[in-house]
Amino acid sequence: MEYKHLPLIVLVLTPALVVAQCPFAPKFKEIGREQHQESDKSESGEELDCSKLLYRTYNGYCNNLKKPDRGTTNSYYARLIPAGEYRKESTLPTAANVSKKLYIDISITEKDYTLASMQYGQFIAHDISNRMMPANGIRQITKASSYLDLSPIYGNDKEAADSVRLFKGGLLKTETKHGQEFPESLKKPTVEDNCSDVRDPDGESCYAVGDTRSNQNPQLALIHIVWMREHNRIARVLSSLNPEWCDEKVFQEARKINIAQHQHIAFYQYLPIVLGKQKMIEKKIIYDADGYVDDYDENADATALDEHGTAAFRYYHTQIAGHLKLINDTQHSTGALRISDYIGRPQIIEKSDNFHLLTIGLTLQEAMGVDRYHDEEITKYMFKEGHEFGEDLKAIDIRRGREHLLAPYNAYRKLCGMKQAQEFSDFKDVIDPELVNSLNGLYHHPDDVDLTVGGSLETHVPGTWAGPTFHCILMKQFYNTRVGDRYWYEHSGELGFTLEQLKEIRKSSLAKIMCENAKLSKIQKDAFYLPDSENNPVTDCEQLPSVNLNLWKETKSEA
Ligand code: HEM
Repeated sequence: MEYKHLPLIVLVLTPALVVAQCPFAPKFKEIGREQHQESDKSESGEELDCSKLLYRTYNGYCNNLKKPDRGTTNSYYARLIPAGEYRKESTLPTAANVSKKLYIDISITEKDYTLASMQYGQFIAHDISNRMMPANGIRQITKASSYLDLSPIYGNDKEAADSVRLFKGGLLKTETKHGQEFPESLKKPTVEDNCSDVRDPDGESCYAVGDTRSNQNPQLALIHIVWMREHNRIARVLSSLNPEWCDEKVFQEARKINIAQHQHIAFYQYLPIVLGKQKMIEKKIIYDADGYVDDYDENADATALDEHGTAAFRYYHTQIAGHLKLINDTQHSTGALRISDYIGRPQIIEKSDNFHLLTIGLTLQEAMGVDRYHDEEITKYMFKEGHEFGEDLKAIDIRRGREHLLAPYNAYRKLCGMKQAQEFSDFKDVIDPELVNSLNGLYHHPDDVDLTVGGSLETHVPGTWAGPTFHCILMKQFYNTRVGDRYWYEHSGELGFTLEQLKEIRKSSLAKIMCENAKLSKIQKDAFYLPDSENNPVTDCEQLPSVNLNLWKETKSEA
């Protein structure tokens, strides 16, 4: 039999063949909201059997077998309360005015936590949702696949994925500069690529990446690059362990391991800070388990909630630092980047030693407090694009909630088991009386208060970074994100890992990922917390647990 005929024959026998074996590429069905009618057909027109896809698609299609388009790129956000169910009758105060009165520009840092705890939050936010602009009708569309699948790195559809792949050795495309890998530069960067119009004349550009929002700020680009390099690091190890694997197989296996590490760090290291570890365990968002976690629920809908993307998770804009410290190996600050000067100008990280200094800054600079205080860099200077003043991100957030027709704060109080306020003073159960007075001065009626605003003023649930309303919304989102993901890394079966491999994945940490990919020699064990000699000591990188990729060497019987 001639080799070149093989793919055709296999396709006829198994139309939805998706095991990434040489020389076949997996057949992904990538669809948009408009094309849903044809979503059950493969590229060749055959019925697509989602149950045969061993690797997740880029746009999330087929993750849910009963409803294959659930959580896909270009879907409507899910809603806890339907859009427009509560109509606000009275005139609302302007978003700018609410922001000015309530969100004071004071820089208070968050004791114990590093800037990485803010930056990882943004990275997760971009993985889960991305509102389509301009707002389009009563229901809003998100351009990101809702699953936690490293879509900023791999893109939200096949076209985006193909554009960042090298198609050789399972690698992502990179440009090597000063001995380090960076994403390719965009030839003609535009504002649509989240790049600033204001750039240095010396060829400074933006990156060609799976989600252009990674160009938005230097620290986010840095996290992006660390994960991009991690993919290539894994791919190189897999290729050397399994020289017979083709590009596709190496790529998909490296992607699967990379996503698993990201899911693990997000759910077991980042989210416990935000939601409280014990609370997450009680609600079965995470388990204190050594073995597999097999509670996938095909009825759970992992689609991004509008209340999450447009209100609750945006609350952490409060953590943004106005100046990004450049810190050297001896833990001394050698300067700082003013964030509003570098919005849409990520390539500042390539200048001199900035990548190194910013990486250490990310792990040693304190994050700003999770409170109603904001750095004026985000309330006065965001997107200033060379002008003296810019925009107010907090006011944008409030406006978005209104554009998305989110029900008022009061409705979510009820949904989350609190009393629906009849008068402003009823808010005092969870909001400081002085702030309730401010709300009373701004709004006509308790039902007018925006979710974005009310939720952000609540006293936090002890041991968490959220008041009861946002806590309730975030818990619902992240429960669905995990339980509604058929490809979740802790599952047993052919989509998952062997138990030994899973145990290796559970050794992942942001600290180790940064060690491996940002040329650090030492770092504290948990990069989300500031170092502390007793509980979080600075450690040589080699001493930190690492994922033993040798377990991915395919034996003859598996091949
Ligand atoms: C330097 C840090 C950050 C900057 C400059 C930033 C800026 C922005 C901007 C400009 C938007 C779009 C606003 C709009 O036009 O609607 C946005 C959206 C958003 N941000 Fe941030 N942000 C940062 C950090 C964070 C963090 C730490 C989180 C959460 C932990 C977060 C969560 C979100 C979410 C959920 C959205 C909406 C996503 C969607 O479109 O569905 N951001 N941010």
